Amino acid sequence: MKHFLSLADLTTEELQGLLDLSLRLKDEWRAGGNAPILKGKVLGEIFQKPSLRTRVSFDVAMLQLGGHALYLSPNEIQLGKRESVADVARVISRYVNIVMARVFGHADLVELAQYASVPIINGLSDYSHPCQGTADFLTILEHKGGFQGRKLTFLGDGNNVSTSLLFGATKLGMNFAIGMPRGYELHPAVWALGERFAAQSGSRILATHDPLEAIKDADVVYTDAWASMGQETEAEKRLRVFPPYRIDKDILEHAQDDVIVMHCLPAHRGEEITDAVADGPHSVLFDQAENRLHAQKAIIAWLLEAV
Ligand code: CP
Ligand code: NVA
Repeated sequence: MKHFLSLADLTTEELQGLLDLSLRLKDEWRAGGNAPILKGKVLGEIFQKPSLRTRVSFDVAMLQLGGHALYLSPNEIQLGKRESVADVARVISRYVNIVMARVFGHADLVELAQYASVPIINGLSDYSHPCQGTADFLTILEHKGGFQGRKLTFLGDGNNVSTSLLFGATKLGMNFAIGMPRGYELHPAVWALGERFAAQSGSRILATHDPLEAIKDADVVYTDAWASMGQETEAEKRLRVFPPYRIDKDILEHAQDDVIVMHCLPAHRGEEITDAVADGPHSVLFDQAENRLHAQKAIIAWLLEAV
């Protein structure tokens, strides 16, 4: 049974294969529509947190591939509260063909995968956001034509999104730099995995507290919310710490002239990114959002061996 919990679990060939399949499905969709390769299949969607992109893109992905999606709100399942995570996994496996779950604790996803008899997809956890990462590398591939020798810089929090970007970049041989405030670094175990993948792929990686050092000559600059879902009580404190890592026009001068700017969204305009950059000529924010649809079609089709 294959699951999709972290980009760290994929081989380079598997990740590259997912990107190729995403492009194929996107071309097919553009040419008039996808073949109904998921006819009769049902995706269960377990949400512990709010969502726009993940919810809608998974629903539409299933619809466009001939299947069906079932949205289960935080109030319905109450993962681990109304009943145990293991029992939820055992029961839902009897109804649906595949499950996507957005959770607070990544351990809940691991437990779902342990007890489910259908594939489990990580739709965001406190640890990582691999669906986002797949769509992001698809977007980079489309705009930059490849990964080797290019530099991806993340400015901001050592969080779920930057974790997936580190894993993806180092699997694909892309150079990766992160500029983050002291106390908000990527977890040492995450960085150690990135170092291991980089040693295999030839990626160069850098972690620094200096935003200018991180962004220097970047081909891709990426940011995310300073306070993630579940960190609302820290938001005020973070607002005082993170401003040197904001992506504005001035800091972007230090990147390559043809840099692309990325953000997983939702954006907190005026905080981690200015309007001028988010709506400016370097922004690919909405291509990224669209690519969630295409990348997730590929992830589902791959897990269900529908292609
Ligand atoms: N980027 C992302 O996952 O967006 P949502 O939280 O709206 O799903
Ligand atoms: N790091 C953010 C990503 C949102 C898509 C969060 O976890 O809230």
